[in-house]
Amino acid sequence: MSKRTIVTMPGDGIGKVVLDETLRVLDAVGFEAEYVHADIGWKFWCNEGNPLPQRTLELLEEHKIALFGAITSKPKSEAAKELDPALADKGYVYYSPIVGLRQHFKLDLCIRPCRTLKGNPLNFIRRGKGGVIEEPEVDVVVFRQNTEGLYGGVEWTDPPKQVYDALMTHPKFAKNFGWSPKDEVAISTRIFTKKYSERICRAAFDYAEKFGYKKVTLCEKPNVIRETSGMMLAICREMEKEYDGIQFNFTNIDAQMMWLTKNPETYGILIAGNMFGDIVSDGFAGLIGGLGFACSANIGEEVAIFEPTHGSAPKYENLNPSIVNPIAMVMSACMMLDHINEAEKAAKIRKAVAKVVEDGKIQAYDMMKLRGCQEVLDQGAASTSEMTDAIIASL
Ligand code: NAI
Ligand code: MG
Repeated sequence: MSKRTIVTMPGDGIGKVVLDETLRVLDAVGFEAEYVHADIGWKFWCNEGNPLPQRTLELLEEHKIALFGAITSKPKSEAAKELDPALADKGYVYYSPIVGLRQHFKLDLCIRPCRTLKGNPLNFIRRGKGGVIEEPEVDVVVFRQNTEGLYGGVEWTDPPKQVYDALMTHPKFAKNFGWSPKDEVAISTRIFTKKYSERICRAAFDYAEKFGYKKVTLCEKPNVIRETSGMMLAICREMEKEYDGIQFNFTNIDAQMMWLTKNPETYGILIAGNMFGDIVSDGFAGLIGGLGFACSANIGEEVAIFEPTHGSAPKYENLNPSIVNPIAMVMSACMMLDHINEAEKAAKIRKAVAKVVEDGKIQAYDMMKLRGCQEVLDQGAASTSEMTDAIIASL
């Protein structure tokens, strides 16, 4: 069989560290691939005026599957200051390359599993009856619509006249906002399409069926955001009929954030639009260990990119040896393996990670609840590569 080609986009800061470590784990499990490096991130913004160069888009176009570390983003004004002076005033504007990737390739399905690993000292605990400490087992997979809604980028301050005039035809706009000077009105739209709402709901129900989850929950706010949340709810209600033995519920995002610390074990598959999905997936990730553990997939009709939820953690960028936890990136690579029909290898790696965490002998600084700095290594924390070594040994 010919080797697969995987595009690797290490990006900035700790993205580079965790991606390299993850490739060692993939090698160790016997996954044979050709890795093609692609440029992305801050350096390319500063030197070329584009954090997501065209050549990277072409590599992704060609090879379809990618592992991504993390990038550094900075506010517009700071970005402008760091741009190569030779490129200043040429009209370059910084934008987040990962948001750019999601939109360019229509990576509309974002999947974020949040599963408790036994023995992880960062697991959520609560007080049960009689003050007993309980550690509920979380097994939630969030399906977040990744390209539309509030992050769709359709927004204005001082909207163009046509937009403003159109909005003034809506009685609620005229009454509640029409009093403000036009140039003091800021608008961010929340647009959902039926096609992409159906795709995220379908992906969630199919996943529930395939992996035996009994519950699918839509987490939106249909009683208030009637059109967009309402459309998703209507889609789910229709779709539910096609899946025997799967129970469909819906929750409101605000109440869901309260309930997730009360009874996180009662949820299985969650569906949400872009922003609510972002919020609720971070909420559940916090219950299973936070950024050192939170993995994700961005899947489109052709291209799929797998990345940890965390960013580039610039504070730790220059620590040598590195102290950050590689597990989030390793688990993201497992999602890639699942996606390309290498589920057996993914299962082996997950088992190896679970064993290391349960043994508890090797722990990254976050698991020891230490403040991140070089000294954590003297306090018994494993370095990033020691943690990777332990995973490989456990394989
Ligand atoms: P961050 O996720 O980079 O780091 C926040 C904190 O979480 C760190 O200081 C560290 O304490 C902890 N942390 C993160 N990853 C960890 C790991 N693997 N192991 C152990 N602890 C870990 O978020 P922050 O500091 O808000 O952003 C830093 C930069 O990253 C910014 O420029 C931001 O724009 C960018 N960012 C990029 C993302 C991406 O590439 N997808 C996502 C989030 C932020
Ligand atoms: Mg987020």
